[in-house]
Amino acid sequence: MLKLPLSKSPLEPNLALASKDISEPKVYIETFGCQMNILDSELVQNQLTDLGYLAVKNPEDANIVLFNTCSVRDLSEQKVLSRLGIIKQRKDNGENVIVGVLGCMAERTNTDILKKHPFIDLLAGPSKLHQVPHLLQNLRAEQQTNPLFSTSTTQVALSNFRTRKGKSSEVSKMDDLEILDASRLSATEFRSKQAYIRITRGCNKFCSFCVVPRTRGPEVHRSPNAIVDEAKRLVDSGVMEITLLGQTINHYNFINENQETNFANLLYRIHEEVPQLQRLRFLTSHPRDFSDEALDVMASSKRICKYLHIPAQSGSDDVLRRMNRGYTTEIYMNLIERARKRMPNISILGDMIVGFPGESDADFEASLELLRKVRYKNIFVFKYSPRPDTIAYKKELEQIPVPVKRERNRRMLEVQHEISLAHHEEMIGQNLSVLVEGVAKINPNADSDLITILKPVTRLTSRTEGDHIVSFSGPKSLIGQMVEVKITRATSLSLTGELVS
Ligand code: SAH
Ligand code: SF4
Ligand code: F3S
Repeated sequence: MLKLPLSKSPLEPNLALASKDISEPKVYIETFGCQMNILDSELVQNQLTDLGYLAVKNPEDANIVLFNTCSVRDLSEQKVLSRLGIIKQRKDNGENVIVGVLGCMAERTNTDILKKHPFIDLLAGPSKLHQVPHLLQNLRAEQQTNPLFSTSTTQVALSNFRTRKGKSSEVSKMDDLEILDASRLSATEFRSKQAYIRITRGCNKFCSFCVVPRTRGPEVHRSPNAIVDEAKRLVDSGVMEITLLGQTINHYNFINENQETNFANLLYRIHEEVPQLQRLRFLTSHPRDFSDEALDVMASSKRICKYLHIPAQSGSDDVLRRMNRGYTTEIYMNLIERARKRMPNISILGDMIVGFPGESDADFEASLELLRKVRYKNIFVFKYSPRPDTIAYKKELEQIPVPVKRERNRRMLEVQHEISLAHHEEMIGQNLSVLVEGVAKINPNADSDLITILKPVTRLTSRTEGDHIVSFSGPKSLIGQMVEVKITRATSLSLTGELVS
């Protein structure tokens, strides 16, 4: 951990604001990016709650504001920069607020971010989040000795994964990282029915467009015993659905002196050793490493969701090669067929990038063709965003103009829209088991009628094992339960049903 003697000029104190009670730490965490970040924020919050920090819902009520950031696209970073602008104003007004940048953007930008934003008090990369409580204590100690002034040093905890010639300067030790994941042990109560468990961190694939290997570092795997124990604890506290997380999750492989546990073995162990768990799913899978053994375990384990998030990124072999993805469309399609042979109703989700440097019209058409062949349940479409330090960025390849990217993005969504609608329409009339997640956001009382007066019925939202969203009318008491619904209507985005049981 570094303590940078950066000259953060003491601001003119506004006595009323500066003297706002700083002895009671009130923390607000805003999360950007992927599920990994959602989990990281939850774990950081757990640690802070244990130390007596109060979690608040509005940044204005907080005297500690933490941004858990994402760097995957430029837009992700711009959002954080605009949030920082708001905090700067508060600081300029003399308010004594501690601001921290956590996660991937901290690791990617390194201390460069402090040149333009010297008011940041804390920088912590994704693999250093277990140090956040300690770093905050340092800042608060400084603040308490001189409450009228902003803190003068920036607390920095980074790994410097930023590669020099593709090699990381620090290999993250899972022992260190386990501290953060294990902080769940001390969480007093688990309110949600759904939870994430991390099984791997980092990524070794170095796709030419992607910043993640530089922000999360090399791949490391948690011990299967720690994972199974965490699953048991979560289920004991009421969790019904667990999603395992990893950047290339099917690459999981843990070896100790006695035994090797691969991804298939891990899935099997969780399914067998945590029988009260209702649903087990995982993301994100990489098309390169999916074994038949893992597909067989999925097919034969009743409570493993028939669901795969397996991004192709492109349907053109030429683009895939330049993306350094390590597979062709033929290998990708072969995997989809192997999965469907075993699980005919499996939901396949994907990610696609449009406008990768040099993507021709024919390459783009090939991507649309792949969509039609795979018949995804849904896809996430991203316009290529050049990321500093990545291979594609360094090669200074021919960039696709923004309007072309925008048009390709629109067309791709249009094609997927038709596929999703057709999928959903095929489901009309089926009885499906769903986990009720809460009250539907849109018009929660849409179906309320006279019956509502006698028996309170609300519009509820739920999810199938294939990640289809189903809304239906039912009592709020069903929230957090598995029920059966009959599908009656479909749009490309969601399904409507009626309660069967
Ligand atoms: N590990 C996952 C992806 C993690 S990043 C995998 O390999 O599939 C999530 C998604 O962001 C990627 O699937 C990709 O579609 C998108 N993405 C990553 N870098 C990007 C970039 N530079 N521009 C646009 N989209 C990007
Ligand atoms: Fe990024 Fe590729 Fe790793 Fe996914 S597999 S996180 S896209 S480098
Ligand atoms: Fe973003 Fe980091 Fe996740 S770059 S997508 S928060 S791994």
